[in-house]
Amino acid sequence: MKAAILGGTGVYSIEGIETVQQLVETDYGMVSVMRGTGEWENLYFISRHGTDHSVPPHKVNYRANIQALMKLGIERVFAIYAVGSISKTIPPGGVGLLTQFIDVTQGRSNTFFDGGASGLKHTPMDEPYCRAMGEKILSAAKKKGITIGKSGTYICTNGPRFETPAEIKMYKIWGADYVGMTAATETALIREAGLHFAAVAYSINWAAGIEEDLAFISNQDMEQIKNSLTEIALEVLFAPLGLCKCKDEQE
Ligand code: HPA
Repeated sequence: MKAAILGGTGVYSIEGIETVQQLVETDYGMVSVMRGTGEWENLYFISRHGTDHSVPPHKVNYRANIQALMKLGIERVFAIYAVGSISKTIPPGGVGLLTQFIDVTQGRSNTFFDGGASGLKHTPMDEPYCRAMGEKILSAAKKKGITIGKSGTYICTNGPRFETPAEIKMYKIWGADYVGMTAATETALIREAGLHFAAVAYSINWAAGIEEDLAFISNQDMEQIKNSLTEIALEVLFAPLGLCKCKDEQE
């Protein structure tokens, strides 16, 4: 079984794992994927903003990245998203599972079913994230003494600018816990692809207007959280899974 980690801001490599670059051709362009070596040869890694953080969220080639995962035969995906905290239950430095999203992005190519030759399909989004992987993440974190909030709604803005306090006030009323710029687009495509998909948000700042200032966490703290999350990902990606709704068939 093959599995992948999708990393964002602050996640440009996986500690302790040597990787080699593999180029994958897709209908949407070439994708550079890192593949593990030795005992990790079934692990793949995509850095969605590029390893030099040069691709802004509204310009990530989401369809190419997800089609590359499909072409490689990847079955499970663990994504890590840097977010701003709207809910005070996950302050900067905190981590929470994603269980729902709200999408306020505009003009992105966010489907493989675009009509014409690619057909039309309305993919259910009632359970966007893999329940079975989510349970494994929570138990792996508990074993390591890491606190992970067990649910949260991610609002996906278009960016690349941050939000105004007025926008965040509205998103809070809508029920959003975290704000970021990538997860909704990526999740919709991964659901269309039918992969097992779990995602965690790690907060690097307060969303605008929640506190006096944004209070970004340090690069050192970011690195530490990233390492804990990739350790959890490695445990969960290859573990036996319980029942979920990600695929038609049960495992
Ligand atoms: N807003 C949007 N995206 C983000 C933020 C934020 O405050 N922090 C990290 N990604």
